[in-house]
Amino acid sequence: MNTGQAHWHILGAGAIGSLFADALSTDGREVSLILRDGVRGETRAQVVERGDLVSEKHFKTTGPRGHTGISHLLVTTKAYDVCAAIDSVIQRLNPDCHVVLLSNGMGFQEQVLASLPSMNIYCGTTTEGAHLLAAGHVRHAGSGETRIGFAARTAGDTRPVWFDQWESAIDNSVWDSDVQPALWTKLAVNCVINPLTALNRCHNGELEARKSLANQVPPLRDEVAAVCRAQGHAEIAEALPRITAAVIQATSGNRSSMLQDMDAGRPTEIDYITGYLLEIADQHSIDIPLNRALFEAIKSRAH
Ligand code: PAF
Repeated sequence: MNTGQAHWHILGAGAIGSLFADALSTDGREVSLILRDGVRGETRAQVVERGDLVSEKHFKTTGPRGHTGISHLLVTTKAYDVCAAIDSVIQRLNPDCHVVLLSNGMGFQEQVLASLPSMNIYCGTTTEGAHLLAAGHVRHAGSGETRIGFAARTAGDTRPVWFDQWESAIDNSVWDSDVQPALWTKLAVNCVINPLTALNRCHNGELEARKSLANQVPPLRDEVAAVCRAQGHAEIAEALPRITAAVIQATSGNRSSMLQDMDAGRPTEIDYITGYLLEIADQHSIDIPLNRALFEAIKSRAH
């Protein structure tokens, strides 16, 4: 039974994974990091800076093929790693495991639901800001909100017991009985900001400050809004001009995650951001040429 104290295993100890590992453990939860080179019995130091507060904790680590069963799994890998990372620990997942997917983008949720039909799959999105300064060293860059809900809704779903503990550990966490609008809002904003900033190698704020870029935002955003509307999210379509402007302003000094990925020579999450939008647009026979051009431009530059 998973009704007691959750022991969280974290797959993807990047900025958000490390921040949440620290918060869950500070609140008294048992937390283990699953690392590719993790060895059972070894620990790994994690430093989290929150303003002037610096906390250092030592977490148990385990490799994917560890021995203990996993009852609660938090996945915070890059979108393109989600399925392979889950596959690498699949033998260890308890039959009624709770799996929380907090990676950016959309598309992998369906794949995970199909590959783990008996398990409890949740997905969510967070606007917590965190930077990985070095492996095992994270700086909290700003408070945000974390929304989590079932990946697929079925009648009679109730908020899981583990969420009480989660909510007490992670500030501003919201149980969302229909999390799809939150995922679509994040996707829509990412479709507008990420490819443009990555291709132009600019901070988010330049999408407002540089006229040549600012002019590209409304037509791109309108294409994204058309897909949102066709998918049943008219409220997101209506609000998108306001939401994108607010995110560009609030994150004006940031380099988007896609720009950071390109600069670091990592694959980008474009398949799970604009790529997913294109798939849904095709299903509704909607032409979105500006998004398609950005998708192709990123794909041709990506490593
Ligand atoms: O992916 C990102 O970088 C972020 O989601 C956002 C909102 C675009 C801000 O940089």
